[in-house]
Parts: sequence; C-alpha cells; structure tokens
Amino acid sequence: MSLPASSSVAEQLAAFERELATAGSLRDAQAVRDRFLGRKNSVVASWMQMIASAPVDQKKLIGRYANELKQQIEARWTAYAEAAEANARPAGAVDVTLPGRVPRLGRRHPLTVVRDRMEGIFTRMGFAIVEGPEIEDEWHCFDALNMPAEHPARDMQDTLYLGAPVRGESGRPDDRRTMLRTHTSSIQIRYMQAHTPPIRIVAPGRVYRRDDLDLTHTPMFTQMEGLVVDEGISLADLKGTLLAFARDMFSERARVRFRPSFFPYTEPSAEVDISCWQCDGRGCAMCKQTGWVEIGGCGMVHPAVFEAVGIDAERYTGFAFGVGIERVAILRHQVQDIRLFFENDLRFLEQFPY
Ligand code: DAH
Repeated sequence: MSLPASSSVAEQLAAFERELATAGSLRDAQAVRDRFLGRKNSVVASWMQMIASAPVDQKKLIGRYANELKQQIEARWTAYAEAAEANARPAGAVDVTLPGRVPRLGRRHPLTVVRDRMEGIFTRMGFAIVEGPEIEDEWHCFDALNMPAEHPARDMQDTLYLGAPVRGESGRPDDRRTMLRTHTSSIQIRYMQAHTPPIRIVAPGRVYRRDDLDLTHTPMFTQMEGLVVDEGISLADLKGTLLAFARDMFSERARVRFRPSFFPYTEPSAEVDISCWQCDGRGCAMCKQTGWVEIGGCGMVHPAVFEAVGIDAERYTGFAFGVGIERVAILRHQVQDIRLFFENDLRFLEQFPY
C-alpha cells in the first residue's frame, strides 16, 4: 500500500460511505465500521502501523492523515448510529412486513400418549386414577405384599436401595429401608391403607430395577397397576376387565388368556396374554409365531395382603393386575428397542402421530 496522502483520506472516507450505504442491517453496518476502525487489520489500524515504518521525515505527516481519517470515520459513524437508533422501531413493536414463522409444535412423548389412552379406557370403566411415591419403603413395596425378608426381589442385586434403614412398624430397623419402588404394586397398599372398599383404581408410574440396558430392559420403566376390591369380586371380573381393556387398546377381536403363574400378593396368580392382533392369533414375527403376546401379571388379592392393610378378607375379595406401559407401547407401535423411549431422539419421537 502506498503511503497515505491527503487524497487517500478522502478516498477512504468515500469508500466507508459507500459500504455503509449498502449495509442491510445495523449488524452489517457495525461490520463495516470494524473494517475501517477496528483495532486490528482495519484501514485506520494499518495506517497507524505505517507510521512506525515510514521514513523519519514523513512520520509526522502520515500520523496526521491517519488521525484525520480516524476522526472523520468516527464522526461519520456516530452520526450514522444515532440516525439508525432514531429510525428503529419502538421497543416491542411488531414488524408486520416480516413473513410469518410457523411455530414448532411440541408433541407428547409416546409413553405419555399410551398411558393417557390406558387411563382413558379404565376411567370409562369407572376406575379412579391414583399415584404413589417413587421413593418407597420396603414395607409398602414388599412386606405388606406378602414378600418376606428372604424374597429374591429384595436382594441388593435387584433393588435400588437409597440409604439408612428407618425404624418400621414391627420395630425392626430394616423393614422401612428406603428404596426406589420396584413395582407400582406398592400403590395398592397405600391406597388400601387410606380407603375402604369398594375400591376401583389404576395407578400408573415409574418403577426402578437394577437391570442393565438392553433391547428389552431399562433400569427405569413404567407400569400401570390395577386394583378392585369389593364384596363378591371374582376371577371372571378380572378377566372381563382385562378383555375390555385389550379390545379397546389393541383390537376389537382381541382375546385374553391367563397362564398360571406365581406372585406372592395374589392367589391364584396368572400371566396375561393377549391374542396377537397383527396375525389375529395365527402366528407372526411379532408374537414369535405363538399367536399370543404377554402384557403383564394379575391375580386375586392374597388374604395376607388384606390383613396387612386391615381389610376384612372374609367379607371382601379383589383382583389386581400390573401392566408394563412400555410393553403396551412396544406392541402397539412395533418398537424394536425399549431404550428408544428414553434417548430423546426426535427422529424417533416424531414418528408418533399425536
Ligand atoms: N408387580 C408385578 C411386576 O412388577 C406385576 C403384577 C403382577 C402386579 C400381579 C399385580 C399382580 O398387581 O397381581 O411384575
């Protein structure tokens, strides 16, 4: 670059004007200002640098031109910025000429959608929806459900204990150890302690187990517990209720099958299968060619459970069931991997049409 001269001050000023005039926004204008006035690599800065390397007899003159340029650009900038501010829209005003922006719609998580759907079905059958604490104690989660101290589910390997034992009803320090509930069955206990029959509830919620992540396991998942207690409640009521649920949730042609099983808190106990609605029971990939898919466990409330909560087992009977909400969602939407529900990947979540 040739040494600055009187004419080049005018030239640079004109260039500054030209660029300012084409700036489309205040931000663009500020970039122009920086190119001319900035501390580094700007026009003024490079002129300032030239002072150092210039022949002694010219230093003074170059210095004068550099300062002149600086002052004039600064003055011009101040005027520009003031005008820009004066022209700016008043705060909060809407620029009606801007094209509209389509807001990104949020959507409910697929597990929430399935849970709501299940709640709707049971609500229409007259069930109330209740909740219970995720942080539980062993008495509500195990003891009161007829699961004695030596029951394998109470093992540290399976249950996430939270800390110090709390002295419980029996006086033993260990029956009120706090833990993350391993199933929603603890809500049955809390509800029966606080209410007298007739009882008709479903209780959805998160449960926790010491499981490693894989295709079918996550250490946290969601269940829905059901409990009905009244005079004269029978296994037929249980089956009819689950059949009505299956028909509404999956397919009008759904059938329900009970397989004998064991849970300490029910007698008799059963595993609940629903006829595969993909193949209508003929056998396909989803039901692994069996024609049936499992959705949970159930049974008639064990008298020991009634005893624990002070309900008269001579007078009342009841049924209970527990259904995995992920399980229902996986079956309904043919999800291959349970972990997808918890990874918050929008590409997965956005596939659900709700
Ligand atoms: N609590 C069981 C589980 O977590 C599910 C269950 C089975 C709940 C039978 C019930 C029942 O109420 O009667 O796998």
